[in-house]
Amino acid sequence: MQLASQGTVLLLLRVLVHWDLVQRARGRSAFQGTVTPCGDSDVESEQMRVLKGRTGGDLLVLCNLRKSYGGRRGAEAVRDVSLGVRRGECFGLLGASGAGKSTTFKMLSGDIAPTAGHAVVRTSSGEDVALFSAGAAGVRIGYCPQQDALDELLTGWEHLRYYCSLCGIPKQHIPEVAGDLVRRLQLGAHANQPVATYSGGTKRKLSTALALLGRPDLLLLDEPSSGMDPCSKRFLWRVLTEEVLEGCAVVLTSHSMEECEALCTRLTIMVNGSFRCLGSPQHLRDRFGAGYVVRVACEEGSAARAVSDCLGLHFPDVRLQGQRLNVLEYHVPRRRDCLADLFRVLADNKTALSIRHYSIQQPTLEQVFIDFAAEPQPTPRAAPGPATSSHRPHGLPV
Ligand SMILES: Nc1ncnc2c1ncn2[C@@H]1O[C@H](COP(=O)(O)OP(=O)(O)O)[C@@H](O)[C@H]1O
Ligand SMILES: [Mg+2]
Repeated sequence: MQLASQGTVLLLLRVLVHWDLVQRARGRSAFQGTVTPCGDSDVESEQMRVLKGRTGGDLLVLCNLRKSYGGRRGAEAVRDVSLGVRRGECFGLLGASGAGKSTTFKMLSGDIAPTAGHAVVRTSSGEDVALFSAGAAGVRIGYCPQQDALDELLTGWEHLRYYCSLCGIPKQHIPEVAGDLVRRLQLGAHANQPVATYSGGTKRKLSTALALLGRPDLLLLDEPSSGMDPCSKRFLWRVLTEEVLEGCAVVLTSHSMEECEALCTRLTIMVNGSFRCLGSPQHLRDRFGAGYVVRVACEEGSAARAVSDCLGLHFPDVRLQGQRLNVLEYHVPRRRDCLADLFRVLADNKTALSIRHYSIQQPTLEQVFIDFAAEPQPTPRAAPGPATSSHRPHGLPV
């Protein structure tokens, strides 16, 4: 009898000690969090994935991450961000200035503490550890902050050698490791000069090189290519692609949609601290860029109103996006035979409407971004939309 009760108590103790493993076995995350209605089904699916613990292959997991500058009651710079990023994935964090991208990065790099939520990395043994103890747990993180943290008086080589020592790279390997980064990021012409003589783009190259030191498992890059010339950008893309192919998880911000298209496997557009959409560049274009952008250049002094009336007659859902000088830009939602009809209507009325020339295009990722960034102050938590909302943001004048 005594043995049976002792056995039961010990069994209960064991279950309590390994409660996290029980939770995982039941398919639940160790995180206690909530799904915040935000009006986008992809963002909510990602939140569910994180909360249900379906993040087995992910290296970085964020759950209901928040930051208010000025305490819990202050304005929220980041609101309830949940995300999992796997090895070999490049995740893009896009958004207009002030959207909350750098604040998110600063929480990931440990510069600032989150007001609420969790941010963890997964070790090779599958254990979740807080980001600040990632190094001790054997997960290497490279971080390129938005503001270059460089010493103007030191040269590129001196920076690299110093950071190599900080990373614990043995002295005899430092010239090889530093030299490899100088070569890969094309810093050769500048590496012997003090940083004070560098252009903005060259400083970004050096900051990126420092983030790449020690072959990180997770790379956090806050606008790495800002100020770089087009050739340097392409070199940087090649370097980052190599890292991703070798299994590094990359999170980057950029104002270049071309860069996001070239590098990101998935991306999100942040507006006022929240994710407003999430998916591959192609998915976002298909989902939010459905339809055509029609640009019509009219003769000087011709009535723009007549063009709008004519298009409105044939395409009731047409929307005037903006006007620059005598060029009008419309968005026409996609429907069957829409493209053929557009060409026909414009060609038939070209002379009557004094149209000089016109073009019809599918919306680009840049247009999707502009539409989201132009959103007037959404309050997703106060006014949640339906889970499958077909978001139709407002357009900017062109
Ligand atoms: N140290 C700070 N103190 C107070 N507010 C801040 C601070 N840093 C950023 N913010 C505010 O947080 C919001 C998000 O800023 P930030 O993360 O830098 O945006 P982004 O990187 O997308 O341009 C902005 O409204 C900004 O003014
Ligand atoms: Mg920023």
